[in-house]
Amino acid sequence: EVEQAVATGSLPGWEQVEAHVVDAHERYLPRTEGAVADYIPALAAADPDLFGISVAEVSGSVHAVGAADTAFSIQSISKAFVYALVSDALGHDVVRERVGVNNTGLSFNSVIAIELNDGHPMNPMVNAGALATTALVPGATPAEQWERIRAGLSRFAGRQLELDGEVYHSEMLTNQRNKAIARLLESYGRIDLDPLDVVDTYTRQCSLNVTARDIAVMGATLADGGVNPVTGERVVSPQVCRDTLSVLAATGMYERSGEWLFEIGLPAKSGVSGGIVAVAPGKGAIGTFSPRLDSAGNSVRGQHATAYLSRTLGLNVF
Ligand code: DON
Repeated sequence: EVEQAVATGSLPGWEQVEAHVVDAHERYLPRTEGAVADYIPALAAADPDLFGISVAEVSGSVHAVGAADTAFSIQSISKAFVYALVSDALGHDVVRERVGVNNTGLSFNSVIAIELNDGHPMNPMVNAGALATTALVPGATPAEQWERIRAGLSRFAGRQLELDGEVYHSEMLTNQRNKAIARLLESYGRIDLDPLDVVDTYTRQCSLNVTARDIAVMGATLADGGVNPVTGERVVSPQVCRDTLSVLAATGMYERSGEWLFEIGLPAKSGVSGGIVAVAPGKGAIGTFSPRLDSAGNSVRGQHATAYLSRTLGLNVF
């Protein structure tokens, strides 16, 4: 049990943050529980031993330990940032009504959740809601929508993000379930575009390569009211950051979101390639990468390291 530091309005000094990041890495490196995702064949090839941690501060300082500069596909973490971009373009009410903001209590790729809710996708962090959100990205063609997503996520990261072609092709050959979810949403009038085009764009967004450092900076942009603290560029409005962080708190860790808030107390988003980003509003963000996952699809070491840093840095928002 790690002692909970008293939460103050800002992060501890640079040296102290650096020391805790180094400690977190050392402490959880030996943990080898969980399994690498294999339902997307290209992800099964990931080195399970990789472990990187980064903390980006709203001041623009970035800490990085271990495999913090190793590229991995962003996967579901993209959902948080595409939601923010769509919300910025279309406003608070449109996304709330079309996609929703409540937890399904079921797994991220659940079909039953759609059926139980009269065809409603429920929230932008599960696959159904993410597909419905991607369908709302402004653009006259799928190519324009994709470019808008790539450019927007790149502004969050502060560098040009590139597609991992191998992951994209591997997922497109094996994502029958997402195609079925998109068709089901179409049948309920929840997707206006060609559902297979939407799945293609969504799969591309999930296949963008990032590092633990990138997701920490992306999260710190949400912590900083929408301004990337490294580049100084405004990416989204402060209102969009509030909306995105509340959606993440309620749904970002899927059916485990309640437990996550109870233990860690930070809005966060995970992805099946092993990334987790957790955001401390007004302070910064933690980005972790370790491919072994628990049964809900959340990185095991990433959860431990984030919990440790939330406690030692006094980040719990409650
Ligand atoms: O759609 C999928 O299944 C993947 N592209 C993303 C899923 C994911 O990352 C779930 N996260 N833990």
